[in-house]
Amino acid sequence: MRKGWFQKKVENFSKLSGYKKPDKYSNVIKLDSNENYAISPDFFQRLIDETKERMDVREYPLGGTERLIQGLSEYIKTPTEMIGVGNGSDQIIDLILGNFASKETKILTSDPTFGFFEERCKLYSIPTIKIPFDGNMSLNMEKFLANSKKVEILYLDSPNNPTGFQFQRKQLEKLIQEFDGLVIIDEAYVEFSDYSVVSMTKKTNNLVVLRTLSKSFGLAGLRIGYFVANKKIADAFTRVVQYPYPLNTVAIEAGILALRKSKYFSDIAELVKKERRRIIEKLREMRVFKVFDSKANFVLFAAGGSSKRIHKALIEQGIVIKNLGRIGKNEGCLRVTVGSQEMNSRFLTAIRDLLN
Ligand SMILES: Cc1ncc(COP(=O)(O)O)c(C=O)c1O
Repeated sequence: MRKGWFQKKVENFSKLSGYKKPDKYSNVIKLDSNENYAISPDFFQRLIDETKERMDVREYPLGGTERLIQGLSEYIKTPTEMIGVGNGSDQIIDLILGNFASKETKILTSDPTFGFFEERCKLYSIPTIKIPFDGNMSLNMEKFLANSKKVEILYLDSPNNPTGFQFQRKQLEKLIQEFDGLVIIDEAYVEFSDYSVVSMTKKTNNLVVLRTLSKSFGLAGLRIGYFVANKKIADAFTRVVQYPYPLNTVAIEAGILALRKSKYFSDIAELVKKERRRIIEKLREMRVFKVFDSKANFVLFAAGGSSKRIHKALIEQGIVIKNLGRIGKNEGCLRVTVGSQEMNSRFLTAIRDLLN
């Protein structure tokens, strides 16, 4: 036996950075994690009350995943055989990378991309080629096409976190069509955006589209992620790779009920989009920030050298946004989640007062 092999392994893991969770604050306006506060707490209280009536937590959730998938299938109008679920889309990312990628499979993605995805690539020692965002926070499709032959996997979050950028539909479709490795399109924020590529999974045998109920459905705490892919991929994942009971009974039953109210959530998404427009316009009117367009439920803006001061001063006033530092050529990037109308107004007033 090789002595100390296990300690060495642990030592190597300890050197990795790991995913850094946001700081925890209490009694604050929380606009740092792209959650959905546009939905009232009463709505969820009622949802959980209804959920309680429908479950017996002494039992394993036998058949529960399948019923949830049935609900998802009706929501996205896709056959159940093409859908799989996970404990948040985080877990689906983890299982795909851990099982289908390796040191030999290079990944093409953007810089920045979803932070957890990057950390997972490091954990599994998967090499990445990253195409940086330009000064206006958009991506150059030519650069993706030029690099696509050098890699085995393509991962794009569409829209992107943290920039809010989404390729033009035709461009992304072309990239997917031309790529013959594994394509992962992460649509966590798709309900706030212009389009989805889910329908392409019917004609493409190498495309996995990740989705979640954490954002537009506001159920981040329940950890319900799902994906759409061709039947072979979905079957291999669900029957072999995924755990027998990936989601707990509370999540399953609440998820099923929430999906039945999908019209309500799409109305909320429209409200969020309106509020997003208002935040972008108001921040632009202040004439001190570079404010980027967004197709997601957050807005990115560059505050240059003042970003740390603004971030700290907002916390002192009980408003937390995300401090991202430099992104490409833009110094001092801050990302604010679109919350309820009242939260957004409080944020806008606080930031305007800080500038005066
Ligand atoms: C692009 C992207 N994908 C996935 C996730 C994770 O979603 P879930 O809550 O389903 O794990 C996030 C969460 O912030 C995200 O920004």
